[in-house]
Parts: sequence; structure tokens; C-alpha cells
Amino acid sequence: MAATLIMNYSWLVFPVTLFIIIFFVYYQNDLLLLLPTINLPPPTNNLKTLEAAAAAAPAPLSSSVGHTIIKRGKNGLVRIEQELGEARAAIRRAIKRRNFTITSEIQDFVPRGCVYRNAFAFHQSHKEMLKRFKVWTYKEGEPPLVHDGPMSSIYGIEGHFMTEIENRLSPFSTHNPDEAHVFMLPLSVTNMVHYLYNPLTTYSRDQIMHVTIDYTNIIAHKYRYWNRSKGADHLLVSCHDWAPEISRESSGKELFKNLIKVLCNANTSEGFDPKRDVSMPEMNLQGYKLSSPIPSKESNNRSILAFFAGGEHGMIRKTLLDQWKGKDKEVLVYEYLPKKLKYFKLMGKSKFCLCPSGYEVASPRLVESINTGCVPVIVSDNYQLPFSDVLDWSKFSLHIPSKRISEIKTILKSVPHARYLKLHRRVLKVQRHFVLNPPAKPFDVFHMILHSIWLRRLNIRLPL
Ligand SMILES: *[C@@H]1O[C@H](CO)[C@@H](O)[C@H](O)[C@H]1NC(C)=O
Ligand SMILES: *[C@@H]1O[C@H](CO)[C@@H](O)[C@H](O)[C@H]1NC(C)=O
Ligand SMILES: *[C@@H]1O[C@H](CO)[C@@H](O)[C@H](O)[C@H]1NC(C)=O
Ligand SMILES: *[C@@H]1O[C@H](CO)[C@@H](O)[C@H](O)[C@H]1NC(C)=O
Repeated sequence: MAATLIMNYSWLVFPVTLFIIIFFVYYQNDLLLLLPTINLPPPTNNLKTLEAAAAAAPAPLSSSVGHTIIKRGKNGLVRIEQELGEARAAIRRAIKRRNFTITSEIQDFVPRGCVYRNAFAFHQSHKEMLKRFKVWTYKEGEPPLVHDGPMSSIYGIEGHFMTEIENRLSPFSTHNPDEAHVFMLPLSVTNMVHYLYNPLTTYSRDQIMHVTIDYTNIIAHKYRYWNRSKGADHLLVSCHDWAPEISRESSGKELFKNLIKVLCNANTSEGFDPKRDVSMPEMNLQGYKLSSPIPSKESNNRSILAFFAGGEHGMIRKTLLDQWKGKDKEVLVYEYLPKKLKYFKLMGKSKFCLCPSGYEVASPRLVESINTGCVPVIVSDNYQLPFSDVLDWSKFSLHIPSKRISEIKTILKSVPHARYLKLHRRVLKVQRHFVLNPPAKPFDVFHMILHSIWLRRLNIRLPL
């Protein structure tokens, strides 16, 4: 282990006196119950468990670096961890009492119903986030590779998220890093690919790695925050297919192993870890607008069983097109949609919309289906769905693994009409979580992404 560390990243091995170990506290009855793999445990008073866990954390060794700086930073961290502790306690109380404490800030919406894994926990947690969560963005670097990002098309959510966080007026941005719960590396992988690989002569990820590692080294030398947590309270946001590579390439494996990666390409068999990383929806954007129009809620006249149109990108698409393209009157599968047919109109007339993975797991069709009131049928393997820490996707979508593509029609036909109607109604219920607003509004897609980050921060504790 130590040998690998030295080989890959000798600078990471600093004197033991400076070595601060992060203690990941997976509270048995805590927020992880919001995370996908954890079931809701019986309510117990786990404040004791928490204290025991905290007591078991290895005491960080004192360091020889400038005494006053450490002291100030330490006090900042004491306050931060105290705040997070209060937020955890408030969420646990809401779960236990099964009670919504309504306050005026987010009065107009209260999450209710089975689309939420735990509506009480989510409501309280979102509220705690609005009240407390602060992000500090490193100022180093210049656009377009840093402090900039795409604002439209399928990677547009990357730029929108970064812009919203970097906005001085954002209630979530702070000017004082000692007040921050998390730190954003404002790098845009999409812009790197756009500017550094133009013309595209290589698929080597070297240039992306070079910029990202350089940037991280600069901020790790200049500020104490990266070293303090070994990157675990830092995040990088990207919708680009290549973004997961920064922690897969050997040069980035050690350096970025704790970093919170906020990705559209959330492929769990490519190193995406749902406990640490955040799945962000891919959205085909034109400015703030989704390219798909929202149909009126009354007219739910859907005569088409299932619909898909799209290119042969990747194996899943190939199988889908081979088996279904132009072959069925109820399962309408197109590669290129004839000019006279309108894509979103067809989605609005379909009961189910097929959302197969393309070259990567994510597809903008997921949000398009939800937006057009079409029940998404996720045809993918190893895709960690966005917001599945709070949303129960099984209540408003279907999942068909790629090996069952031939059974699509049988599976969809076997859904009783009453169940379809329920799925449809719940799709309309979750629409608000997939909408981008200028400026952002509670419970919209920006807040949902931020909330996923907030949950991951709540689930770790930095030693004081
Ligand atoms: C919810 O909690 C508040 C106090 O936070 C309390 O006044 C109210 O009675 C509770 N409601 C229910 C239904 O338990
Ligand atoms: C963080 O650790 C690296 C590697 O040991 C070191 O070079 C750097 O100076 C440290 N940063 C600070 C602010 O101490
Ligand atoms: C529903 O759609 C079908 C076929 O597109 C059409 O014939 C029918 O009139 C529509 N019904 C309503 C109530 O709009
Ligand atoms: C997800 O990752 C696995 C492992 O690298 C890969 O085989 C698969 O093709 C990926 N899925 C998609 C849809 O790209």
C-alpha cells in the first residue's frame, strides 16, 4: 500500500505528524438511510452511537505548521462539524417523529408520498441545507478551462451548476473558506475536451489529467483545506463522458480517491461510488430551458405503448435497434425519425419512453420523459440514477436490464392499467425536481444536485 502510494504520488506521503486521517462515520441509523443501499433501520436513539463513533476516531496529531493558522482553521472546523452535527440531529428527529416542521422559507412545497424514500428525512434535510450549507470555490485559474462551462446542449448542466455556485449572490456561496462545508474545484472537463482536443487527434486523457492534477497541486500547496480532508470535502462537477477518468487513470487514482465526483456518467462499474459520488441528470438544455415542452396535464391521451428514437450509440442501442427498429406497431423504435414526425410530440403521446444507455450510461431522455409525462423505461446496466438517495425510482419508472431487451413488449404489456396510471401520476409529481430555474428555487434540479452533495458531506466527519 505504502509502496504504491510512493510510486504514484510521493507528495501524498507527508510526515506522519501532518497525516490527518479521515474518519468516515457510517452511522448505522443515520443519514445513510437516505442512500440507496441502506434500508430503513428501526428508530433508536443513536446519539450515543454517534458519540461512541466520534470517540473512536483517531485523534489527529498536532502539527508543526504555523500555530495560529492551525488554530483558526481548527476553530472553524469545530464550528463546521458542530453545525453538521446539529443538522444530523434535526433530521434524525424528523425521521423519528415522522413530522414535517413547516417554516416560511420553503413553505410552498412539502415532499409527500411514496416517490420519496423518506419524505420526512428529505424535507428536514433540504431545510437544513437551505439554512446552513456553504460552498467555497477556489479562485485560481482562468476561463475557459476554469470558472466556465457549457450552458447548453447535453452537457449544459455542468456550466449551469458551476455558474450558480460561483454566483456571489448565491445563498450557498461563501467568501470565507473557513465557513465552507465543501470546496469546489471549478474545472470544466467539457471545456478541456473542447479546447485542448481541438482538433481531436488523440483520445488520450493525458491533457485532462495534466490540468486537473496541476490545479489540485496548486490549491493543496496554497491552502490547507485539501490536505486537511485528503480531498473528501472537495467536489468536481462534470457532465462529460470522460470526467470519471480523472480517478481511474493511474495518475489520479490516489489523488482523487476521496473527491466527490458529481457526474452524469454515473457508471458503477467504472468506479462511480454512490456513497461518495453524486449522480447528476443529463439534460438537453437551451439556456435554462429544457428542449422538451411540458404538455398540459389534463390531456393524457396516450395511444402509443412505447417510443424511442436515437442513433446506434453503443451496444445497448445496437441491440435495441436490431430487435425493435420498425418491427412493431406498439413499440415504436426509430433510428432516424422521419421529418414529418415530431420527437417530443411522440413522447407526449406515449405511455412509456425507452431510455437506453448510449456510449455512456446517462441519457437526456430520462428528464425528457419525465418532463413530457411519459413513464421512463430505463434500459441500462450499472447506472446509478440521479437523486436515488431521496427518490424511489421504482415508484415512477421501470428498469429493464439490457439482457431483457427482447422482452420489452411483454414486460410493458404486463403492466396493469391501474399501475400505469399510478406511475404516470407520480412522474408528474417528480417533475419539479428536474427543472432548472433562473434563479434556482428550492427542490429544483440545482437544489437536488446540491442536496446530494450535502448528504455526502453529512455522511463524513473530519477529525478536529
Ligand atoms: C410536529 O412537531 C411540532 C414541534 O416541532 C409539534 O408542535 C407538532 O405537534 C408535531 N406534529 C405532529 C403531528 O406530531
Ligand atoms: C499539503 O501536502 C503537500 C504534500 O505533502 C505539501 O507539499 C503541501 O505543502 C501541503 N499543503 C499545505 C498548505 O501545507
Ligand atoms: C386520443 O387520440 C386518438 C388517436 O390519436 C384520437 O382518435 C382521439 O380522438 C383522442 N381522444 C381525445 C379525447 O383527445
Ligand atoms: C459501464 O462500465 C462498464 C465497465 O467499464 C462498461 O463495460 C460499460 O460499457 C459501461 N456502460 C456504458 C453504457 O457505457
